Amino acid sequence: MSIIRIARAEVKVLDLKESVDYYTNVIGLDVVGESEGRVYLKAWDEFDHHSVILQESDSAGLDHLAFKVETDEDLANYEKKIEQFGLTLKRVSKGTRLAEGEAIRFELPTGHQMELYKDIQQVGTRTGSLNPHPWPEGLRGIAPHRMDHMLLSGDDVEGVTRFFTEVLDMHQSEKIMTVDGEVMIGSFLHARNGKAHDVAFIKGPDAKLHHVGFSVHNWYDVLKAADILSRNEVQIEVTPTRHGITRGETIYFFDPSGNRNEAFAGGYIAYHDMPTITWTEDKIGQGIFYHRRELIESFGKALT
Ligand SMILES: [Fe+2]
Repeated sequence: MSIIRIARAEVKVLDLKESVDYYTNVIGLDVVGESEGRVYLKAWDEFDHHSVILQESDSAGLDHLAFKVETDEDLANYEKKIEQFGLTLKRVSKGTRLAEGEAIRFELPTGHQMELYKDIQQVGTRTGSLNPHPWPEGLRGIAPHRMDHMLLSGDDVEGVTRFFTEVLDMHQSEKIMTVDGEVMIGSFLHARNGKAHDVAFIKGPDAKLHHVGFSVHNWYDVLKAADILSRNEVQIEVTPTRHGITRGETIYFFDPSGNRNEAFAGGYIAYHDMPTITWTEDKIGQGIFYHRRELIESFGKALT
């Protein structure tokens, strides 16, 4: 059974037009479709039809996250295992959203809605897959390679970790524990794809979104993202720095609805047999902002 990667975020926004302008011109995603009040977008290096869906809503936050699986048998097997784990599950029929096949939908122990799916139309990239140039002409904004990962908040970090590792066979790359080692307050999880994280959880209110991370190539691209954000007067929460956790390079900022975004580069390759790295709560500042070594207040509080 195989989970390929996190592959979709449906994000709730307050003003669709303003948000589409931000996600296309500042982030630099391409609009690939529009249907029933939702706008579908993809990054230039993604082959599938879309990875981000914007949904107009009264409140900001996450409608759902979704992982792509490899085969139809995977989907059927996971459906059984998820029900055995005790989660209530429903089928989302083909065509519910643009270019997607059937999906299964369930609620995580942290209250987030999550889906697994196999089928989505592949539309390819502008560089193509035959003798491609390294990047296409006409990139806009930060122009990330892909929607990379998400950090979510919830109370049952242990339970959601057990779900991802035992039911979905994903691996925990890092965890944050209270100093006495009793309580897990952070968990970083990845599929068998070498990424340091596809999804992460931090202890906090249930069903909340902390941020959606977009992957850029290197440290200079993180700096350039900061330039682009300032030029567009986007609210930057944390200027370019490095994470201790994942070792990635990062900048945090907010979309027009207050959803936090991140441009993320680097980090190590996380093989499945690597032991889980442990951070203790007293070193959480260093784990999250390696240079500043302390958390800023908004970082723990601004959730959507
Ligand atoms: Fe992140």
